[in-house]
Amino acid sequence: MYKYVINGGKRLSGTVAVSGFKNAADGILPAALMCAEPVRVENIPNIRDVLLWLDIFRDMGVKVDMLRPGAYEIDAGSICRDDPPFGHMRQMRASYYLLGAMLSRFGKAAVSMPGGCDFGVRPIDQHIKAFEAMGATIDIQGGVIRATTPDGKLHGAHVYFDVMTVGGTINAMLGATLAEGQTVLENCAREPHAVDVANFLNSMGADIRGAGTSVIKIRGVEKLHSCAYTIIPDQIEAGTYMVFAAVTGGDLTITGVIPKHLEAIIAKLRETGVTVDELDDAVRVTRTGTLRRANIITLEYPGFPTDMQPQMAALLCFASRTSTITEGIFENRFKYVSELNRMGANILVSGKTATILPAERMTGTPVRACDLRAGAALIVAALAAEGTTEIEDIIYVERGYEDIVGKLTSVGADITRVEVSHD
Ligand code: EPU
Repeated sequence: MYKYVINGGKRLSGTVAVSGFKNAADGILPAALMCAEPVRVENIPNIRDVLLWLDIFRDMGVKVDMLRPGAYEIDAGSICRDDPPFGHMRQMRASYYLLGAMLSRFGKAAVSMPGGCDFGVRPIDQHIKAFEAMGATIDIQGGVIRATTPDGKLHGAHVYFDVMTVGGTINAMLGATLAEGQTVLENCAREPHAVDVANFLNSMGADIRGAGTSVIKIRGVEKLHSCAYTIIPDQIEAGTYMVFAAVTGGDLTITGVIPKHLEAIIAKLRETGVTVDELDDAVRVTRTGTLRRANIITLEYPGFPTDMQPQMAALLCFASRTSTITEGIFENRFKYVSELNRMGANILVSGKTATILPAERMTGTPVRACDLRAGAALIVAALAAEGTTEIEDIIYVERGYEDIVGKLTSVGADITRVEVSHD
């Protein structure tokens, strides 16, 4: 067990390179199992979710070769199980993508109910609705989802999603890729990572049109072939470093990004008085003046991403006037607020809205990360707080941020990762 020890008050400056997008890798890695030939995937972030995937793959008899850091060849020609090990799967939300990938390729699958960050109820009814429309029979018992098809394959169908779901959209695309006939998905999520998964599947020979819009049409193909693919940069990691720069009154250039994916984050940071310069594949974030208030509501892409909500809340604690944040995606994504309040924040939560009053004084305190972005929010607060903050349960942070200690240290933060002693 490790914790981060952060001495606040250091101004960050310099350049940070963004890694590959966690949430795209979470869809692309299981999609690679749909191909019986080797595929090469580059820009895979070195994070815990990816390591869990690679362990699951090895347990399933899939050949995984690291070509160099971040680049892997995955050969699922030799896959020997369609009921992968449940222990690792339970630790990840994205394990549900094995349902779509295995059903598509083998016409049957068994996966454990997904784990991952706890934001209240996170149903997967829309995933199941899509697979049932494609002819699967789903049985959920004892935390295991078993899916079967009468004739060993899925069949094209018309699916209307009742909510815009990233996971449901990606899973249905996986299922439809090797299904017989055409599938039409309506009211789809338009997030960049859903588009990235579609582009990856198309590079393997899938026939998917419309990803990035609300209607996706997929003509099923018989099989997929080898390809080489590079995962898009992580817009949430980029946004998090933008907030690190803003909260410390710093000057950070964040490289290897797609500025278009950052539009909502850039707009909100500018409202708070932060300067953001958009370059071709980088953004430079500087702040010299006082932080101003902002009101934010999280929405589906291209709205403000829920995955940046906790980090922005932590930033707005340092603003000169009262801000509000309304969570528009998840039932309960404010569990981190009590930890920020322990550091001196003055945040009141009522239903789906947090009112963030200016903090009189934020000071270093022992706190715990309760999920991935909550952990990032505590780092935001710790970087600007007076004194030393110790953050425990950083295993959540390391699920999604590659080498956060190394990257922050290289731009002037005082952060160390130390073993938790149990005396
Ligand atoms: N929903 C349903 N039924 C479903 C699926 C979703 O009601 O069958 C609801 C959810 O409860 C939620 C909303 O629809 O209220 C959106 O959920 P979505 O399915 O889009 O979320 P997800 O696929 O479970 C992914 C990311 C999350 C990110 C959300 C929203 C992965 C592995 N996870 O989750 O990422 O917050 O999309 O963009 O890609 C993170 O990176 O910190 C993270 C939590």
